[in-house]
Amino acid sequence: MTGERLKQYQTMLEKKLESYLPEEGTQQADVAEAMRYSLLEGGKRIRPVLLMEFCRVCGGDPEKVLPFACAVEMIHTYSLIHDDLPCMDDDSMRRGRPSNHIMFGEASALLAGDALLTMAFEIMSSKEAVEAVGAERAVRASHILAVRAGASGMIGGQQIDLMSEGRGISLDTLRTMDEKKTSALISAACRMGCALAGAGEEKEEAAGRYAWSMGLAFQIVDDILDATGTQEELGKPVHSDAERDKNTYVSFMGLTEASEEAQRLTQEAVKQLDAFGEEAAFLKELTNELCSRRK
Ligand code: IPE
Ligand code: IPE
Ligand code: MG
Ligand code: MG
Ligand code: MG
Repeated sequence: MTGERLKQYQTMLEKKLESYLPEEGTQQADVAEAMRYSLLEGGKRIRPVLLMEFCRVCGGDPEKVLPFACAVEMIHTYSLIHDDLPCMDDDSMRRGRPSNHIMFGEASALLAGDALLTMAFEIMSSKEAVEAVGAERAVRASHILAVRAGASGMIGGQQIDLMSEGRGISLDTLRTMDEKKTSALISAACRMGCALAGAGEEKEEAAGRYAWSMGLAFQIVDDILDATGTQEELGKPVHSDAERDKNTYVSFMGLTEASEEAQRLTQEAVKQLDAFGEEAAFLKELTNELCSRRK
């Protein structure tokens, strides 16, 4: 089971994430509070865990890359805050609590997201981060993240998602949408782990292929859970996709086939991990567990 090591990573991450948040009691206390509210507690922390574990299997020290792992989680958290806004998915619950904009209002939620995105790059270019891994690797990691979080990656996927609401799209477009909105950021995390450990291009490419399949499976399971889970389990509203007439693997092929596709993609992802030898046992297990997750 992945339990013990996963917990260790999560504990390291919670502590480090907290250390980056702006002090309370400043003039901009409102945005600081909104950032803190969404960033701490409740998330599975899968992306930063992947970054640290890919670093480890490539011979690096996971502790040294913690700032980069936190940066990825900040970008992920910002994407969720914005994803829940009324102009996007209009969801009122996230990570077991009212969504950011329900608590702080739309303007503060928008700003908290912007601030988390900016903070990610502040941290990756900080003295601490650069001294831990060297300037060249730090710049390379930032670039990997920027490319995949931006318009040709996650943002592009979110745009396709919104544009496709209420209209039929091809399976090809659906796949592209999920690759961009979900696989791209997961790919950034996995590739960054390799790059920060100084692994060669071959390993980074294998990590990228892993993330592409794993990310698709991850989104398909998210879509399945939206249709079959409960709000208590997920900590976010259910049936949100059907209500907004979203295109998902579930709407496209039904629950059974979507689940088979998630399993097939998971096996495809696990196969890519052979490139990392026996050290990849934890990653393989984690990948399988994510396919049968209930939250
Ligand atoms: C939710 O991501 C958004 C998707 C891309 C499916 P997670 O399921 O990783 O959300 P948290 O971080 O655990 O809340
Ligand atoms: C979100 O996909 C992907 C992001 C990049 C945030 P969803 O809209 O399905 O994520 P949830 O279900 O709200 O977490
Ligand atoms: Mg969405
Ligand atoms: Mg959503
Ligand atoms: Mg969803």
